[in-house]
Amino acid sequence: MYDNFECVDVKLADGIAWVRLNRPEKRNAMSPQLHEEMEAALTTLEVDPEAKVVVVAGAGGNFSAGQDLKLFFRANENNPLGRKKAQRAANRWRWELLYNYDKPTIAMVEGYCVGGAFMQLLATDFAVAAEDATFSLSEVNWGILPGALVSKVVADTVLPRHALYYCCLGEPFDGKEAERIGMVNFAVPPTKVEDKVTELANKLMAKSPRVLRATKQAVRNVRSMDFGQSYDYLAEKGMAIKVGDTEDSYNTGLSQFLDEKSYKPTFEPFKLGSDEEKGN
Ligand code: ACO
Repeated sequence: MYDNFECVDVKLADGIAWVRLNRPEKRNAMSPQLHEEMEAALTTLEVDPEAKVVVVAGAGGNFSAGQDLKLFFRANENNPLGRKKAQRAANRWRWELLYNYDKPTIAMVEGYCVGGAFMQLLATDFAVAAEDATFSLSEVNWGILPGALVSKVVADTVLPRHALYYCCLGEPFDGKEAERIGMVNFAVPPTKVEDKVTELANKLMAKSPRVLRATKQAVRNVRSMDFGQSYDYLAEKGMAIKVGDTEDSYNTGLSQFLDEKSYKPTFEPFKLGSDEEKGN
């Protein structure tokens, strides 16, 4: 199902889908073909029951060197249709798709994360970086500004001084600095990156998928709402979780705590039934 891609590599193991941009010889710079393939891969994984958590990473030890300056930019300079198609494909998976994704997503950053790669970095729900990873908003260094949504998502993620400094200076920073300013959740030694991502993915897989999906949507969506809208939206969203909930999460959680006294919600999630028990 995932074997026919040239620029994307997908491996499924123990519920985790490892999706790697796969142009290592070009530091995973993103070509129009890569964008089309990422959209196809992520769309398929969203409905693949084998994939519970999706990890976005890069092959060959680099996350991504951003848009391919040759194939994405220069090749389309005099081709408005090609440019439009490439821009649309790039934005669909890096933002519309990942930001609204049904399943939890984690960015795993090793090596370079440059320019346009900040879109997928900040569209994912969580991010783990190697301490020695190199982040750079390099746009200012070659005559453009951080476009598509990069300026917006950087400004939305970190404090204004950090956003202005790194966008205007184009200075590289490492994984530790990315953690300090809130660009990633964790920076860990390079040999521990996959372990940390796996640990986080396992924690996410222990939650009710339906409740987790609604929670991440809620946290994202209330940012642009006022208090009245938030009250109303969260009440409706809370009720929506219960419709068709195969885990019957609310009652199961309460019963395991109040009746069985088998867990404490402060420290851990309630025990999920197996897929077979749920009839999946
Ligand atoms: N677009 C096109 N080709 C690229 C890109 C890119 N973004 N990044 C690297 N490559 C290519 C290089 O041209 C080179 O190709 P070649 O082997 O045919 O000569 C190959 O990938 C390897 O790159 P090197 O520069 O030789 O590798 P090195 O490890 O020394 O440096 C680095 C890597 C730092 C990422 C450097 O390539 C670089 O600065 N790339 C540009 C990054 C960038 O500014 N991206 C655009 C951001 S703006 C945007 O995305 C909208």
